[in-house]
Amino acid sequence: MDFVGQSILSVDQFERADVERVFDIADAMAPYAHRTHITRVLRGAILSNMFFEPSTRTRISFGSAFNLLGGEVRETTEIRETSFAKGESLQDTARVLSGYSDIVVMRHPQPGSVSAFAGASRVPVINGGDGANEHPSQALLDLYTVRKEMAVLGRGIDGLRIALVGDLKYGRAVHSLCKLLGLFSRVAFNLASPPGLEAPPEITERLQTQGHVVQQSHHLERSIHHVDIVYVTRTQEERFASPAEANRYRGLFRLNQAVYTEHCEPNTVIMHPLPRDSRSEARELDDDLNANPNLAIFRQTDNGVLVRMALFAMVLDVVDQVHQHAMPVTWYTGKRTPR
Ligand code: CP
Repeated sequence: MDFVGQSILSVDQFERADVERVFDIADAMAPYAHRTHITRVLRGAILSNMFFEPSTRTRISFGSAFNLLGGEVRETTEIRETSFAKGESLQDTARVLSGYSDIVVMRHPQPGSVSAFAGASRVPVINGGDGANEHPSQALLDLYTVRKEMAVLGRGIDGLRIALVGDLKYGRAVHSLCKLLGLFSRVAFNLASPPGLEAPPEITERLQTQGHVVQQSHHLERSIHHVDIVYVTRTQEERFASPAEANRYRGLFRLNQAVYTEHCEPNTVIMHPLPRDSRSEARELDDDLNANPNLAIFRQTDNGVLVRMALFAMVLDVVDQVHQHAMPVTWYTGKRTPR
């Protein structure tokens, strides 16, 4: 795929070589993300960061990534703060915003909405999450993290054994990650969810057609034996008809240190797209795992900046210019640790 000028709407756009190229460019962004150097390659460029659903990581890290490349960020965080609240269409909004910016990142609750927006935009659009459908940049940063974590163990992504547990029905990060993993070889998937929150059949059937081993169950503990990665997800309460319906599933799957010690191999890496639900009735990923060195959740969030910088550089065609005129930073950066 030629990324230049393209919208990034779905992981279905990628082949394996595209994903590996994103990761190599993300690696090259480390001096800027880790604040040893600055670059101003996107000086003068404007990102419209349009988030119509709550977000901490995706919104701020896309904005930070653009700033780290030297660009400016304009953003909106609620539908009621825009003219959507007055009935303006996605298409009209896209036409207007693309007159103000060089690239748009958008999150919206409706599946397919970001693609509809991109269809009327004159500048590239990156999907920051569209309902329960997809979250392509999250999947890229997750797989980038898998690659780094496995590299520490002298392994690659091919032959990975991964348990994806929790709300697999509505978790868009899981949907996109499964599709990306499907591009690699011999992946063994253990998909474990409470009854009613199983992964969509189109995803499991696709993985099987690609030759991967897919086991589905309703048992957290049994699914996490003999895997390299446990990827935990939150009950996506915002996708349910009512809070009461979501409450039926909260707390059914809980990974904590005791469960990990009893059921996981010693080096099993723990991931979660975050946010985790730390309320007492949920705690799908307990805080008592925070001291576990295999907990990779904050390495994931740090990696998100690298991957999102890579996407901006590729789409806006400045990959070869990023390192020109790089300068060392002059301020205190002592508390930053890459790992
Ligand atoms: N993982 C993720 O999408 O987090 P936010 O909702 O905070 O952006």
